[in-house]
Amino acid sequence: MSEKAEKIKQLFNDYVVPSYGRFDLVLDHAQGSYVWDADGKRYLDMGAGIAVCSLGHAHPELAATLAEQARKLIHISNLYYHEGQGRLAQEIVSRVGEGKCFFANSGGEANEGLYKLARKFGNETGRYEVITALHSFHGRTLAGIAATGQDKVKKGFDPIVEGFKYIPYNDLKAAEAAIGPKTAAILIEGIQGEGGITPADPEYLVGLRKLCTERNILLMMDEVQCGYYRSGSFCSFQEILRDHPEGKTFLPDVFSMAKGIASGFPMGAFWVRKPYADLLGPGSHATTFGGTPLACAVARKVLEVIERDHLAENVRKLGALMKKTVTELAVRYPNVIEKSRGMGFMQGFSLNVESPVFKKSTLTPSVQFVNALKENGVLTVPAGASVVRLLPPLNLSAQEAEEAMAKIEETAKEFNKI
Ligand SMILES: Cc1ncc(COP(=O)(O)O)c(C=O)c1O
Repeated sequence: MSEKAEKIKQLFNDYVVPSYGRFDLVLDHAQGSYVWDADGKRYLDMGAGIAVCSLGHAHPELAATLAEQARKLIHISNLYYHEGQGRLAQEIVSRVGEGKCFFANSGGEANEGLYKLARKFGNETGRYEVITALHSFHGRTLAGIAATGQDKVKKGFDPIVEGFKYIPYNDLKAAEAAIGPKTAAILIEGIQGEGGITPADPEYLVGLRKLCTERNILLMMDEVQCGYYRSGSFCSFQEILRDHPEGKTFLPDVFSMAKGIASGFPMGAFWVRKPYADLLGPGSHATTFGGTPLACAVARKVLEVIERDHLAENVRKLGALMKKTVTELAVRYPNVIEKSRGMGFMQGFSLNVESPVFKKSTLTPSVQFVNALKENGVLTVPAGASVVRLLPPLNLSAQEAEEAMAKIEETAKEFNKI
């Protein structure tokens, strides 16, 4: 690493709260699916800022929209109306079903809205409990870590916010058994991300819907990472249930969005189905920066480009190709790659953690592999100790997908020799 890059790292060591485990990489600029480090080395970005940069980096139309809107109107507060927020809500509703949207600034904050909605919904009947899944991830706010079904995020932050209960994912019987007199909602990710890329089974989704309707509790979905076309459909449940007889009519009661919604401009949101759309009345929920004219203009441009450039089809097509290749690599390098996981551009692979090739280092197998791929010029994201995530921009080209696959093979070969 050059002196310049070391100096930048030193600024972080001296002045930035060390709450993140960062990779040894100082980034400087980017274009499309590529980023460059401070020393001029180029990397193919198969992480897209953890599933954020839907249109890749430095997209000229997004940059123009940002500049244009910044000259017109950046912020006015939610004391007033503006066209962009109304139109964006309309566009989201048109892709899902009758309901309304609330705009926030991040996934964690969007999910806070979900917990409040669940409490408001159950308030009159004394219900407040939200059931979530083990290995889930719902953000780092106080209620977010309480909702998250992983102990590691809660450590040191007692007392944990009350009213959350955890069940094994994809286990309908466990969900049924967990519902009690205090239960107001069930919250799951359509595809668990941080927990290791695990999609919900179609029958689990349909079963949960039926269960929640029968027991009069809200079915809430966290689409922060898996939503916004990352699965190949606008929402992951639309993709998971694509060929299911109930796929056309399935709807959760509420779902949250963030990450890819404005391709890197900070924004979060939730959609709530019509019967519950007015539960959060005036004065009950708010955020200063929610749905600013600037954020909404960018988010609307993102939707326009995704639609115009047929990026959902691109995700499905290249996602299937990548899955096929990774599955073949798992057969060729069983010492290294265990199996492919996920769908569309929310996929990855688990590593053979028991293999001696990962025993030479104290780092987790996922971090070892991500580091080695980085050295070979590809950025990816670990999930837990064993999974490497592939979350590229939705406009990744076929050639770039091939390049990523070739580099993963090269890296697997290197591990195989260890
Ligand atoms: C499923 C899910 N929900 C919520 C969050 C939290 O989002 P944010 O980091 O924008 O608060 C994340 C972030 O990784 C996520 O993957």
